[in-house]
Amino acid sequence: MKHYLTTDDIESVPKIIAEAIELKKEPYRFEQLGKHRTLGMLFFNSSLRTRLSTQKAAMQLGMQVMVMNFSGEAWSLEFEDGSVMNGSTSEHIKEAAAVVSQYCDIIAIRAFATLTDKEKDEAEYVLKSFQKYASVPIVNMESATAHPLQALTDAITITELKTKERPKVVLSWAPHPKALPQAVANSFTSMMQKMDVDFVITHPEGYELNPEITKDVPIVYDQNEALKDADFVYVKNWSSYNDYGKILQSDPSWKITAEKMALTNNGKFMHCLPVRRNVIVDDAVIDSLQSTVIQQANNRTFAAQIVLKHILEQLPKL
Ligand code: CP
Repeated sequence: MKHYLTTDDIESVPKIIAEAIELKKEPYRFEQLGKHRTLGMLFFNSSLRTRLSTQKAAMQLGMQVMVMNFSGEAWSLEFEDGSVMNGSTSEHIKEAAAVVSQYCDIIAIRAFATLTDKEKDEAEYVLKSFQKYASVPIVNMESATAHPLQALTDAITITELKTKERPKVVLSWAPHPKALPQAVANSFTSMMQKMDVDFVITHPEGYELNPEITKDVPIVYDQNEALKDADFVYVKNWSSYNDYGKILQSDPSWKITAEKMALTNNGKFMHCLPVRRNVIVDDAVIDSLQSTVIQQANNRTFAAQIVLKHILEQLPKL
């Protein structure tokens, strides 16, 4: 693996899931692999899980880690080619990415969607600019349109917990007071299409995701209908893709309740976290044995670790 920008960078999903599950049993097995290697983690947005789990993953591989809050600590970056930099930006991405590459063997980046400029978000201008001007591999820690480390985590969790060969997995929209990106839902959708699952998406009309990502996945506008016999219910809010970044409605009846979970096949409740309790999901569900959210958070480490391991294995020898 050269970079990890989307789930498409995974050569074989079943193989990498199996490797991650093995790594979980023996997390320090490859601690020589990252010796004298440095991971640089650049954050343009907040994080709890991604920051700590990716750092832990790197440390378990024997790597050194440098973390920088790019939005608050670094010079403000210019991304336009040929721009006359007499405004608010102080450093061009050309130098910034090349300079970070002098200190780091792998650069991991978190840069969320603007949700105001669809064209820029779809072009992944932060992530892709780093990829263009850095001389080392890039790992996506959630970009404008994708969260592939979360999706790999969720694939590992489903594989660990499934009780039948082909489980039914439902991705359900839920209400939220703020406009959120589509990144988690996009990557989860892409990942489910690479797995042997019966996958359904449910959301109110108007919240359709990018059709280039959903392809022929069935979309059911009746949440109760979609939840019937589900083995896994993956819940996430996202803002409108077509009416880009807008909250069209936040109908509280889409919240996940114990009554809704009763429609499932004793289904597991999944969420990437952070979650707004009693807005997205009732306490009674997230605090129940059906909730997998802490197991998912634990698996973030092993998803990141297997990705970093694959990338480290491709680096030129020291
Ligand atoms: N799920 C997830 O990416 O969590 P953080 O935003 O806290 O990193």
